[in-house]
Amino acid sequence: MSTTAEQVKHVYQPIGSARKLFSAKDPEVLLSGPAGTGKSRACLEKLHAMALMNPGMRGVILRKTATSLTSTALVTFREHVAKEAIDSGEVRFFGGSSQEASLFKYANGSTITVGGMDKATRIMSSEYDIAYVQEAIELTENDWEAITTRLRHGRVSFQQVIADTNPDTPYHWLKQRCDNGKTRIISCTHEDNPTLYDQEKQDWTPSGASYIAKLDNLTGIRLDRLRYGRWSAADGLIYDTFDGQVHLHAPYRIFPPKDWERYWSIDFGYTNPFVCQFWAKDPDGRLYLYREIYRTQTLVEDHAEMIRKLTRIEGHYDPPPVAVVCDHDAEGRATLEEKLGISTVAAHKSVLEGIEAVKARLKVQDDGKPRLFIARDAVAERDPQLVEDKKPTCTQEELLSYIWTKTVSHDAMKIPKETPRKVDDHGMDAMRYLVAHVDLIGRARIRTLTWLSQEHHEVMRVASACNNPQRPLADHGLKGRCCLDPGGHQVGGGERHHVHLLAVEHRGCLGGGVQRRGDRGDLGRSGCPGDLLSIGSCLRSCWRRCRRSGSSNGRSSRSRGSRDGESCTGPGAEDDQSCPGDGC
Ligand SMILES: Nc1ncnc2c1ncn2[C@@H]1O[C@H](COP(=O)(O)OP(=O)(O)OP(=O)(O)O)[C@@H](O)[C@H]1O
Ligand SMILES: [Mg+2]
Repeated sequence: MSTTAEQVKHVYQPIGSARKLFSAKDPEVLLSGPAGTGKSRACLEKLHAMALMNPGMRGVILRKTATSLTSTALVTFREHVAKEAIDSGEVRFFGGSSQEASLFKYANGSTITVGGMDKATRIMSSEYDIAYVQEAIELTENDWEAITTRLRHGRVSFQQVIADTNPDTPYHWLKQRCDNGKTRIISCTHEDNPTLYDQEKQDWTPSGASYIAKLDNLTGIRLDRLRYGRWSAADGLIYDTFDGQVHLHAPYRIFPPKDWERYWSIDFGYTNPFVCQFWAKDPDGRLYLYREIYRTQTLVEDHAEMIRKLTRIEGHYDPPPVAVVCDHDAEGRATLEEKLGISTVAAHKSVLEGIEAVKARLKVQDDGKPRLFIARDAVAERDPQLVEDKKPTCTQEELLSYIWTKTVSHDAMKIPKETPRKVDDHGMDAMRYLVAHVDLIGRARIRTLTWLSQEHHEVMRVASACNNPQRPLADHGLKGRCCLDPGGHQVGGGERHHVHLLAVEHRGCLGGGVQRRGDRGDLGRSGCPGDLLSIGSCLRSCWRRCRRSGSSNGRSSRSRGSRDGESCTGPGAEDDQSCPGDGC
């Protein structure tokens, strides 16, 4: 197709699905298909052609967030679709303001507004003839229906919302809407894109062949959706309760509130992505992943620079993290510590325990909210290599392909174990480390406090004795005496068992305690946080609080509080274990 308006000449040839889109007049049309088939280009071309041919037309380009449009649809529109018209002055761009959305103005009076549903007021007060929604699966059905109500400008003989998307689960509202006949679905294939497929030769172009080879290398659900365009659900999805409509949060343009605690969680990588997640914890204990670095082929020292940069935006400073939780890469940790002048803690690596903890947070609670959110567009910059390879470019994108796999053992007597598939799991690991750090280690600390109220003096004695965490408990002459492990494990009973002094913060109540660690090496790396004097005074204040709440007499002091309970007396019945130590 070629459109000419005075001197402006633009050439675009719609093929297959794109051609169908051009002739469609249905009120709702969805282009659905695998990656790179030319869906977005076709929608933008139709919008542009209609704006040229219908003077005074009002169109709108939409996505869930305005920021995501800047790096996607707007680039295609400026560089491919309206390039000649912009160069000739036929189309001009106006940047907008905090009240007004940005827009392209045509010499013939047509306009194309650009906006995100995250700033809906800027766009939803106007009326349009046609709307283009990019990556429509990101929207809620309410968003979609709100858009359809805005289509009543009447400059074109039909009003229409056109949309594109890569497929999602077959249960997605948009697929259901298509299945119910409310929205017409047009399926796209790679052969519809002339840069990938040569219609004359009936063969892939050189760049098409290498693009398809990359897609063929994908596995699981990404292969299904991005290579073959199928609306399919992953078998054995680990976080099967993750739901974009529930767990994705509006982006933070600057930072979450300053008084929320900050945590950083890091999974090191070079060939694989290095992931640094920035988390904030609200006063109710909910976690928000508000920013992240997700990048390959970059040195840790350069990441350190980026981390520093991300903590200062437009003159605002992000509060320092309470903890920087890292995977066990000693060199990476040392470099980060040196470059950023911070200390880091080793992640709690138990995979299954960590996954269970994340799952518990994803569960929607009685207040209608889960306890973990991921902000949309949290990733600071998309890694162009990962974009090119169609690999996940952020934590959120890993969720849909993080699945269980069976580990086959050569020992016929062993039952195959289910473990997470070790592919595209870098953000998943970092998220697990953080949740384990906050919930599991936190829980152990709180449990310890349960005992502290009873065994106050004994604990202080053990704590004082254990100020050198490198030495086994036995070296302190405490073998068989400690009853502080509420998990029922033996503490101090063997060569490899130690106790570990911890500082505790629980709902603003600071305390301290001892915790069993697995072995000498682990303990050595974890070190012994906090100084004994301050922990000692915290223990005393914790003890006083327990007494004030009338629960000072030892084991009966274990309240039935929630895991993040109101008092510091402990987590409730599940922890009501009898003391395993013979010294009690
Ligand atoms: N008919 C065409 N003529 C020329 N170039 C095209 C045509 N169709 C698509 N392209 C080019 O192919 C590339 C991929 O197209 P586009 O981004 O529209 O694909 P997509 O299906 O939206 O991809 P994704 O699934 O990743 O969103 C773009 O550079 C686009 O300009
Ligand atoms: Mg697209």
